[in-house]
Amino acid sequence: MRLVILPNSDDVAEFACDLFVQQLKQKPQSNLGLATGSSPTALYNKLIERQAAGEVSFSAATSFNLDEYVGLDGDHNQSYRYFMNETLFDHIDIDLKRTFVPNGIAENPNDECKRYEEMIALAGGIDLQLLGIGINGHIGFNEPLSSLASRTRVKTLTKSTIEANSRFFGPDETQPTDSMTMGIGTILNAKQVVLLATGEHKAQAIKGCVEGPVTASCPASALQMHEHAIVVADEAAAKDLTMKDYAIWAERRHQALEKM
Ligand code: GLP
Repeated sequence: MRLVILPNSDDVAEFACDLFVQQLKQKPQSNLGLATGSSPTALYNKLIERQAAGEVSFSAATSFNLDEYVGLDGDHNQSYRYFMNETLFDHIDIDLKRTFVPNGIAENPNDECKRYEEMIALAGGIDLQLLGIGINGHIGFNEPLSSLASRTRVKTLTKSTIEANSRFFGPDETQPTDSMTMGIGTILNAKQVVLLATGEHKAQAIKGCVEGPVTASCPASALQMHEHAIVVADEAAAKDLTMKDYAIWAERRHQALEKM
């Protein structure tokens, strides 16, 4: 696992932005795995700027989002489809028909999950998968105790995730308790994975992800089994890492060796 610790959240977004730009330059028809939440928004703003400046194009790319709430249709302002359109897709040159998010109002959510998993496989798999991390270590909506081999499926949310996301729902709105999410096995199949974490409230989750045992109790720890996983954290999110100094030193060496 490559661990990159940077001074602040803007540096984290910039690092991730460079990765996406490089990916699209190398392979314009990339399959991008995208995420929602507050962690990727600064990255998305930077990608919008880079595209407007003509430095990158999404016109040949395809995207697959990690997850969606069961019961919310794409017009609901808390659905992840709505979030993606508003935050990224409406501002870049991607073909909206090639942006995929599980359908939250599918008649049969289990069938929808199977279809989604098949679509990813048919497209040739994900080239670069973006992840945030929940305070309990979840990735996508793979809550603790998720099978590390899981595929896209319906997953019931934990109380802590429902509480963490309740701030987005109005008092009269019914907050979903279930989701459809790519599985941990689906995520591990991506050719490259980048997880972003900023802020002190993510410090324990990052410790579990990077230094803890590989365990279903911390789904993000499964990334330790991925050949090309990069965890990008700001100082605050990395503050509890025992190996922090080594990680900073190793990353400096990594960059120096790359230039040789
Ligand atoms: C949600 C999403 C995750 C995201 C997590 C953390 O539960 N399903 O994909 O990583 O929230 O969100 P944030 O980045 O806002 O802390």
